[in-house]
Amino acid sequence: MEIIRTIAELKAKLDTARSKGSIGLVPTMGALHAGHASLIERARRENDTVVVSVFVNPTQFNNPTDLATYPRTEEADAALLEKFGADYAFMPSVEEVYPEPDTRVFDLGPVAEVMEGAMRPGHFNGVAQIVSKLFDFTRPTRAYFGEKDFQQIAVIRRMVELEGFDLEIVDCPIKREEDGLAMSSRNVRLTPEQRAIAPAIHRTLASSLDWAEGHSVEETKRYVVDEINSFPHMNVEYYEIVDALTMQPIKDWADTESAVGCVTVFCGDVRLIDNIKYPKRK
Ligand code: PAF
Repeated sequence: MEIIRTIAELKAKLDTARSKGSIGLVPTMGALHAGHASLIERARRENDTVVVSVFVNPTQFNNPTDLATYPRTEEADAALLEKFGADYAFMPSVEEVYPEPDTRVFDLGPVAEVMEGAMRPGHFNGVAQIVSKLFDFTRPTRAYFGEKDFQQIAVIRRMVELEGFDLEIVDCPIKREEDGLAMSSRNVRLTPEQRAIAPAIHRTLASSLDWAEGHSVEETKRYVVDEINSFPHMNVEYYEIVDALTMQPIKDWADTESAVGCVTVFCGDVRLIDNIKYPKRK
């Protein structure tokens, strides 16, 4: 596994790789865990060359404290990438990626206006900036993203459509700890007490599948919010049940072919996100 720091070197290596076969890209912000490893394993199975980018992208943070406290574990990341068979780790500096400020504003439309888009102004534009740059640098055959960031995948699909990238977006299921907590780089910031409570997020979402059978969308949302908020340290920022393609909130179960519930919870000051798919109503 080779660590690459510059765009020029990355492009040169991948030009050679592209002439021999497919390229799988796994974009990450580092602090890699088993969730990332599952994306890398899948990319490894499906492509001739695997490149993983490790870059904490400043333009997608609308909160300076969140950017400053985001875990950075470059050595451990390189070891994990080696272990899971990546060919290249692209680990550039901020100056390399943004030699000048990126002023592009993407017309991301309704998928980016709700939930994370409403709570974190500018966040998705920053994601579109960095992911479009990474696609441009690597020109991958396939790019892999985890479904924990469910809305992010919809936004990236929209950006791909806008920019006309010719590649496949592969969405991969959420990886969970044994107690159900969705794996996240942010989990390391939980205190032991918060870590013990945090699995209540997934437990509640899972129990809402049964609850939803006899209740309306509004009642199901209320159930999830009240249940999670009943735990100490936990404070739900939003729980929305949306159409899985458009990300628009539904009012009635019949409004969609596939409903997804997306939650953001502050556990102490750590912002955790998770989601669950509701089965289609007959
Ligand atoms: O999901 C993430 O880790 C980031 O948003 C991504 C896609 C790597 C862009 O910085």
